[in-house]
Order: sequence, then structure tokens, then C-alpha cells
Amino acid sequence: MDRGDMGIKGSGGACGVCGGRTYVIERQGDRAHARICACSAECSVCGGRGHLLVQREETFSKKVGTRKYEVLAPCACTLRTKRVARYNEVGMPGVVAHAGFDNFRPAKPEQDRARSVAMHFAHHFDKAGPNKGFVLSGPVGTGKTHLLGATLAHLVLEVGVQARYVEISLLYATIRRGFQEGRSGGEIIGPLSEVEVLAIDELGKGRGSPFEMETLDELIARRYNAHRTTLFATNYSLAYERKNVRTVSGYHATEDTKHAVREAELLRERVGERIYSRLCEMCTFVELPKDTPDRRHARQEMESRTQPPPAGMRASR
Ligand SMILES: Nc1ncnc2c1ncn2[C@@H]1O[C@H](COP(=O)(O)OP(=O)(O)O)[C@@H](O)[C@H]1O
Ligand SMILES: [Mg+2]
Ligand SMILES: [Zn+2]
Ligand SMILES: [Zn+2]
Repeated sequence: MDRGDMGIKGSGGACGVCGGRTYVIERQGDRAHARICACSAECSVCGGRGHLLVQREETFSKKVGTRKYEVLAPCACTLRTKRVARYNEVGMPGVVAHAGFDNFRPAKPEQDRARSVAMHFAHHFDKAGPNKGFVLSGPVGTGKTHLLGATLAHLVLEVGVQARYVEISLLYATIRRGFQEGRSGGEIIGPLSEVEVLAIDELGKGRGSPFEMETLDELIARRYNAHRTTLFATNYSLAYERKNVRTVSGYHATEDTKHAVREAELLRERVGERIYSRLCEMCTFVELPKDTPDRRHARQEMESRTQPPPAGMRASR
């Protein structure tokens, strides 16, 4: 049993390492990895047994009245161990191991909205469902994967939800490799269509081959039919149609407008009408503007500015 209403806070207190969360998430190779913080390794509540006796009170009938009885219930530490193990099956990339809602810095009002939508989703997730997901669209380095990471970490570790993260082109590659090993696409798609919450990153990426389109269509259709929640991030625009390109008859596209068409590529055109209309039903759309600053760039610049010059070049006055 893993009930969302049971917290995993326990002996953490105000630990300087985990901040009282009782677990930490670190980068381990290319994956984000969770572990129980040293402050909570030994459980003072159950003495390491993993369960404890709790009192229950229940009214059976008028004649029997209210009776008190004791039942064996899992301790918070058991829940914690389980959720940490589950987090390690999500498949979150190591580059966003640190990602949280509190260290997300919005540079644009739309980024602030993106964080609010993601936070609201994470904090109000109803295990009995259904829950409306979200699609984050925007240029690279604007925190889309960061917000997916923060959302899944909260859901899995604080609420006890089962979740998976996939980068769409890696998923296609995995299925293709599976084919060569004699496995069917369904073997890989199956678990992904059933998991409570699935985050699909880089939606629209790929060659757009029939194989890719069918795989995506099957995955989304299965999740849609099962009323499962899916979250998405994409570099493509969520607009229904292009605003800045005229399509009047007799209009000849110049090199410039052809370029604009490519720039303004729409998710709707990348994934097709069927998938796009399902997304509209399953998700709230958030689009970050094209001029949202790229954090990867900003960070690199800052690091190169703050790095000390090589030893030989240091002034020795
Ligand atoms: N608004 C932001 N606040 C804090 N960190 C950010 C923000 N946007 C991006 N980052 C950080 O920059 C790096 C790249 O962000 P990422 O989420 O991978 O971008 P995207 O998925 O939009 O391309 C990550 O380390 C991420 O934590
Ligand atoms: Mg990303
Ligand atoms: Zn701690
Ligand atoms: Zn315990």
C-alpha cells in the first residue's frame, strides 16, 4: 500500500543536507539518482522494523458500538524506501537532478506561468484521477525539462505516484533496437502506456517516419483511452496555425519567408492532426516566447567569466 496522504517525513528534522526532505537526488552518470539521506537512514519511529502498531477506531453496529483495535501499518520509513526506489526507475536525466520548483528562475511572465501550471499539477494531483496534464513549448534551455523533472520528483517522492520519463527519439531508438533483438514494439510501449504519469520530452523530434508516427500514436491513444495523465515538452510551437505567414493564392514565397516557415514549425504539423487534437483534450498548453533566454548559454558564459586565468598567466605583481 502506498497512500498519497501519508507523508514520508520522519526523522529528517532540519537536516542541512536534505533540508528535512529525508532524501537527496544526485547526478549519477547520465541519470538522476535518489537516495535516503544519512539523517534518516536509521528510523527512530519503528526502530528499523519497517512497520508499527496503530490504533484504529470503528463503529461496527449499534449493538456492538465503537471498538478500538490495533493494526500493523507500514512506517513512514518503508514508504520512503519504496518511493526512493521508484524514483530511480523514472529515468530522469542527470542534468536536471537538481531541478526543483524553488530553484526555477523565471525570466519571462510565461515562464512564471509554466512553473505555476506545473506546480499546481504536482500539488493537486488526484490519485483517483483523472488529471489534466500540460504541454510546455519553448526554445532550448528555457527550463522545460527542468520543470518536468521537478514535477516528477514531487509526484514520486512526495505523493507516491508511479512515473516515467522518456525522451522521444531515445524511445524510438530503443524500440528499433528491440526489433533487432526480436522484441515487439508493444513490449516496450506496454509499461509506458500503463504508468500513472508519463513525461514525454522533445515531442515532435525525429524523422517523422511512419514507424515513429505509429509508435507515438499508439502510445498516446493507449494512454488517452486509459485516462492516464501525460506531460509533454517540445521545441515546436503550440499554435494552431502560423500567424505571420500569408497563404493568399498567387503568393510567391521568397527565401526569407521559406525560412520563417521552417522557424515557425508547428507541433500540430509535426505530430499530425489526430495526436494534436488529443493533446488539446488531455493537456493545458503553455508556450514560452522565442526570445526566452537560453540558460545553458547564460551559464556557460558566466562560468567562463568567473574562471580564474591559467596558472602561467596569473599576474605576479
Ligand atoms: N528558468 C530556469 N531556472 C533555473 N534553471 C534553469 C531555468 N531554465 C533552465 N535552467 C537550467 O538550465 C539547464 C537547461 O535547462 P532545461 O530544462 O534542460 O532546458 P530545456 O529543456 O528547455 O531545453 C538545466 O540545468 C536547468 O536546470
Ligand atoms: Mg529539454
Ligand atoms: Zn537529511
Ligand atoms: Zn520506520
